[in-house]
Amino acid sequence: MKSKIIIFLTVLSLAGKADEGMWMPQLIAAMNISDMKKNGFKLSAEQIYSINKASMKDAVAIFGGGCTAEVISDKGLILTNHHCGFSSIAALSSVANDYLKNGYWAMNAKEELYSKDLTVTFIKRIEDVTSKILQNVKVGFSEIQRDSAIQSNIKLLEKKTKEEYKYDTFIRGFYYGNEYYLFVTETFRDVRLVGAPPESIGKFGDETDNWVWPRHNADFSMFRIYANKENKPAEYNSENIPYKPAYSFPISLKGYEKGDFTMVYGFPGRTQEYLSSNAVELLQNQQDPIRVELREKRLAIMATDMKKNDTIRLMYANKYAGVANYYKKWNGEMQGLKKSNAVQTKKDFEKKFLSQVSSEPAKKEKFTNLFNQFTKTYEEYAPLSKQYDYFTECLLGIDAIRLANSFVPVFTELKKKQEGKENKFEAKFKEVKPILPFKNFNKETDRKICVAMLDMFSKNIDKSLRVPYLDSLLTVYNGNTKALTDFLYNNSGFIDNKKAELMFSDFEKNAQLYERDPVYLLATAIVKHYQKTVIPQINYYELQIAELQKEYMKGLRENIKDKKFYPDANGTLRVAYGKVADYKPRDGVDYLHFTTIDGLVDKNKTGIEDYYVKPRLLELYEKKDFGNYVDKNGKLRIAFTGSNHTTGGNSGSPVINAKGQLIGTNFDRNWEGTMSDIMYNGSFCRNIVLDVRFTLWVVDKYAGAGYLLNEMKLIK
Ligand code: ARG
Ligand code: GLU
Repeated sequence: MKSKIIIFLTVLSLAGKADEGMWMPQLIAAMNISDMKKNGFKLSAEQIYSINKASMKDAVAIFGGGCTAEVISDKGLILTNHHCGFSSIAALSSVANDYLKNGYWAMNAKEELYSKDLTVTFIKRIEDVTSKILQNVKVGFSEIQRDSAIQSNIKLLEKKTKEEYKYDTFIRGFYYGNEYYLFVTETFRDVRLVGAPPESIGKFGDETDNWVWPRHNADFSMFRIYANKENKPAEYNSENIPYKPAYSFPISLKGYEKGDFTMVYGFPGRTQEYLSSNAVELLQNQQDPIRVELREKRLAIMATDMKKNDTIRLMYANKYAGVANYYKKWNGEMQGLKKSNAVQTKKDFEKKFLSQVSSEPAKKEKFTNLFNQFTKTYEEYAPLSKQYDYFTECLLGIDAIRLANSFVPVFTELKKKQEGKENKFEAKFKEVKPILPFKNFNKETDRKICVAMLDMFSKNIDKSLRVPYLDSLLTVYNGNTKALTDFLYNNSGFIDNKKAELMFSDFEKNAQLYERDPVYLLATAIVKHYQKTVIPQINYYELQIAELQKEYMKGLRENIKDKKFYPDANGTLRVAYGKVADYKPRDGVDYLHFTTIDGLVDKNKTGIEDYYVKPRLLELYEKKDFGNYVDKNGKLRIAFTGSNHTTGGNSGSPVINAKGQLIGTNFDRNWEGTMSDIMYNGSFCRNIVLDVRFTLWVVDKYAGAGYLLNEMKLIK
C-alpha cells in the first residue's frame, strides 16, 4: 500500500507543476479558476472568456502571421512587439523614410499608415465539436482512413458553420485528436501603423541579447484597427473609422512585486509536452544537434561577409536574424534537456505510469505495447528524420537552390500557355521573379554557403541515400564540392544579376534553354528526390506517431485522474498563469526579476554595436526625465520575468495582473528555459515581458506622442 502511494505521488508531481500549462479559455471556469484565485487572481472566469458579455478575449487578437496583439483603447488601438510589426514597418519604409532606423509616430489619425496585407483576427466563440468530427470514424479504421475521414469532416463542418454564423471558422484537434474545437473568428484587414520606436530601442541588444536575460529592449509597436460604419471588417478605405472593440485592457502604472500573480493571454504556436522518452531522446541527441550544427555553419559564413561589407550586412540582416533565432533556441533547448536529464525523467515517468496501470491486465498489455510501439517507430523514424533535416536545413539552406526551385510553377504554367491552355504564367512569373539587382542575395556569400552545405551533406549522408543527380555531379568533379559549386555558380542565370536581367527579359522565348540551367536542374532534382523518397515515408511515420500519441494522451488523462491536463499549444487562444519570478541560471548566480534603464545605459557604454542608442535616449536619461513611469524606488524599469508557460506565437501577448490590468507585453523566453516547449520546469523556465510603463515612457517622453495616452484607461 505504502509503495503504491509513493508511486502515485511521483507520477503526479512529474506530470504537472505549478505554473505549467496553456489552458483553453472556455474551460477556465471548469478547470482553473479556483487554482487561479488561490494564486491571487481577483476576477471571474467569465471576465476572461464569455460569449454573452464583453470579456478579455475580445481584446486579444492574432496579429499577422504568428503573433499576438492586445487592444488598449476603445478606439481600436493595439499593442504588439516590434519584431511582430517588423515586416510591416519595413514595408512602409524607404531609404528616405527609414522607420526601422528612425522609428515612426503618427501625430494624428491622418498620419496613421495603412499596412498592406496585415490582418488582425479575434475569436468570437469556441465550441466543442468532437462528436461531430469523430462521428463516422470507426474503430477498425487504419491511420490513413481515420485521418481522411477526420479531414473531410473538418472541411464540411467549417463550411457549414461559416454559412451559419456568417463569420470565418476553423477547427483544430486538441490532445492529439482526442478532442476537436471550432473557432469562430472575425478578421480585420484595414490595420494601420500608429507608431514604433527606432530599432535601436525596439531591438536593442539585437542578436547578442536575443533569448537572453537580463534584457533591455522595448520590443513594441502600435497599430490601429479600422472598420466600416457598422464596425465590421472592411478592405482599406479612407472613410473607414477606428474599430470600437467590445473590450479593451486597462493599463496599470502601479507595477508589480516578485511573486505577484500574472496571466498571459495569447496564441502560443506549438509545444510537445507529452512526447515519449524516445521522442525526446531523438530531439535532444539528433534533431537539435543536426539543425544547430548546420545553422552554425551557415551563420558563420553570413556573419563574416556581413562584417566585411555594409551592403551585404543590410541584405542579410533579416535572413540572419531568422536563422539565428531558432539556431539559438534549439541550442538552448538541447542543453536544457540534457542538463535536466529530460530523457531519464521521461523514462522514469513511463515506468511508473506502467506500474500504476498494471493492476489491470488489459491496461498493462495495452500500455506495454504502446511504449514498445513508440520505441520501434522512433527507431525507424530516426534515420528518415535525419534525411529530412539535411534536406531542409542543409540543401535548402542554399539560397540558390530555393530560388531556382521556386520557378517550377512558372515553367509548368508556361507549358500550358504554349499549348494554348488556360494558365497562370504571368502571375506566377511576377510572384517569383526577383527584383534585380538582388535585394537579399549575394552570389559570393551563397557560393560559400553552397560549398559548406555540400561538404556537410556528403560527409554525413550515406552515399546510398544521397540525391542520385547530385551524386553524379559530385562524381564528375571527383567529390570536389568547390569545383562543382564553381561550375554551378559560374554558369547559372538564376543567381547572377547580369545574366538574370537578360534571362527575365526574354524568359518566355528562351524558356527551354533556361529549364536546363545547371542550378535549376540540381534544385529540381533535389526536391523531386525528396518528394518521391523521404517525404512520403516521413508522412507515414508521422501518422503512426500521431496515432500513438493520441492513445498515450488518452491513457494519461484516463489514468491520472487527479491531474488536469492542458492540451499542447496549436496556435489557438490560451491562458497561461503564473507569477513574477526570478531564477538562478547556474551555480552561484542569481538573476533579479526586473531590469532598469540603468542597465541599458551600462550596456551602451560597452561600445558593442548591438547596444547603440540614439543620443536622445541618453539625454533623457541624464535629465532623469522619467515622469510617473517609475517604480516605488524611482527606477525606470524596462523588462521583467515571469513563470508563465509561453512559446513562439505568444510574442505580443498581454501580460495581466490579478485585477485584469495590463502590466506588460510578452516578447521572449530565457535561453536556459527554452526546453519548456518539451518539458516545462517551473524553477527556471521564464517568459520575458516588456514593462508597460517603459512602453508608455517611450511613447510619451521619447517619441512625444503622449496624446495617445489620452485614449487609454490608465490606472495610477
Ligand atoms: N526570440 C524572440 C522570439 O522568437 C524574438 C525574435 C526576434 N528578435 C531577434 N533579435 N531576432 O522568437
Ligand atoms: N519571440 C517569440 C515569438 O515571436 C516568443 C518567445 C518564445 O518562443 O516564447 O513569439
